[in-house]
Amino acid sequence: MDMVIAGAHGKIAMLLHPLLLERGHRVRGLIRNPDHASDLEALGVKPVFCDLEAEDDLSTHVGKADVVVFAAGAGPGSGTERKWSMDRDGAIKLIQAAHANGIDRYVMISAMDLRTPRGSEVFQAYLQAKLEADEALERSGLAYTIVRPGRLTDDPGTGHVAMAPALPKGQIPRADVAAVLAEVLESPSTSGLQFDVTEGPEPIGSALVGLERFK
Ligand SMILES: NC(=O)c1ccc[n+]([C@@H]2O[C@H](COP(=O)([O-])OP(=O)(O)OC[C@H]3O[C@@H](n4cnc5c(N)ncnc54)[C@H](OP(=O)(O)O)[C@@H]3O)[C@@H](O)[C@H]2O)c1
Repeated sequence: MDMVIAGAHGKIAMLLHPLLLERGHRVRGLIRNPDHASDLEALGVKPVFCDLEAEDDLSTHVGKADVVVFAAGAGPGSGTERKWSMDRDGAIKLIQAAHANGIDRYVMISAMDLRTPRGSEVFQAYLQAKLEADEALERSGLAYTIVRPGRLTDDPGTGHVAMAPALPKGQIPRADVAAVLAEVLESPSTSGLQFDVTEGPEPIGSALVGLERFK
């Protein structure tokens, strides 16, 4: 498949690319920083320069593809404004580009427990921005999968997770999120699903199959 990853130099995305390439997919990565291009090229990913906040229309950058993945984020150092411009509007612009380009499939990295306001003003904006992006995707008519990881760590992946529509607070290695995304991208039956994922005991493949009962 032809895949376009927004936020392609992010920590999860950089773990996802090799999993997709070794399965024979072709991957283009949207990045805004030219210094990141060589890291993508070294993996075999084609860099496409696109600032998801500065551009209004992403369609020419996204081009033709079978699926888009939203792996971008304003990040922990950013303020309220960028929660709206990146975490919400960047994801929504990618929905619009998918529609414009006839791309039916959209996989979103979201986050757990978005409906419980908590934390600082900036964190509350983050939760609301991610929620509004997810809701826009649900309404979009695209074949979506919304993956909601717990707190991300840089621990080695285990290949094992807990997965359900709603889980207690937990954490998960980015490597396991990348492995979940790789499986989701090859599993059209995960379209229409949204689920929490944290560290846990179940192999990723069987955890995904088990989720289909919640459709
Ligand atoms: N941290 C957590 O515990 C947690 C928990 C659940 C879910 N999440 C979600 O997980 C996702 C990815 O996590 P991660 O750790 O892989 O993130 P990350 O390493 O911070 O990667 C985010 C990427 O987005 C890119 N980006 C930011 N603004 C951009 C723009 N205007 N145009 C183009 N690219 C832009 C960044 O590029 P630059 O280097 O150019 O800024 C970066 O490569 C995020 O959506 C986050 O909300 C995080």
